[in-house]
Amino acid sequence: MAYILVERVFKSFRWPDGTLLQVLRGVSFETKEYSITCLLGPSGCGKSTVLNIIAGLERADGGKVEVKGGDTPSGGPCRLGYVFQDPRLLNWKRVDENVAFALKGMGVPKGEWGPRLARYLELVALSDFRRQYPLFLSGGMRQRVGLARALAVEPAVLLMDEPFSKLDQLSARRLREDTLSICRKLSQTALLVTHDVEEAVYLGDRIVTLAARPSVVAAIYENPIPPADRSWDDPRFIEFKKEVLNSVLSVAVEKSSA
Ligand SMILES: Nc1ncnc2c1ncn2[C@@H]1O[C@H](COP(=O)(O)OP(=O)(O)O)[C@@H](O)[C@H]1O
Ligand SMILES: [Mg+2]
Repeated sequence: MAYILVERVFKSFRWPDGTLLQVLRGVSFETKEYSITCLLGPSGCGKSTVLNIIAGLERADGGKVEVKGGDTPSGGPCRLGYVFQDPRLLNWKRVDENVAFALKGMGVPKGEWGPRLARYLELVALSDFRRQYPLFLSGGMRQRVGLARALAVEPAVLLMDEPFSKLDQLSARRLREDTLSICRKLSQTALLVTHDVEEAVYLGDRIVTLAARPSVVAAIYENPIPPADRSWDDPRFIEFKKEVLNSVLSVAVEKSSA
């Protein structure tokens, strides 16, 4: 069992001039096991803050976050993988060395590195580039290295923070398709943060929408289209995308007229 529970989480930031910025105002949701949950909301609403609280990089002011995972019968500690908006690679290390660096950091025995590198670099279609340096790769390929690095530690839950937002449209689409198929192949429990409705509806089995700051959960959708049937121009997909988009827009309008 691997899941994340976020219950009535509050968070404010104190700015250097003394201003208190309330970002999260009682955010609650649960991820869906062995599938992808998308956290969808406008820029600045606190999506990265939620992920950082889950990953333990930031502390909540109130509320509860439970991250439980996988292999350990006691339910924890849970191994998390993190894919950042920028891949954050070590440019002086080769592709496979970047992934191995994460394995070392997680204390994976050296004897396991070879098979893991082979497996996860193949999954992201980078086997032929394993001895390359990151700066010679395209943006999409660099993001694939970031994905392989996060997956290679075999996380109970994979966290992804807008991993496609800096890519050109074609690379982003390809990588969304590959990410969906890789997560399905691995039965990976994942939480993906995005401001892109189409991306959320394509990747998410569950879609949690956040209203603008200070954020609360506006709605939670279960995707009616099974992952295997999702395609960009399928009428059911377009219909569902419209429904989610309208709900996101209506929350934005309600707020601005409030
Ligand atoms: N460490 C911080 N100190 C002060 N303000 C912050 C900090 N981190 C985030 N914020 C502010 O909190 C708000 C939400 O940020 P963030 O979670 O990054 O939003 P999102 O990922 O949805 O775009 C933004 O207005 C941002 O400026
Ligand atoms: Mg962000």
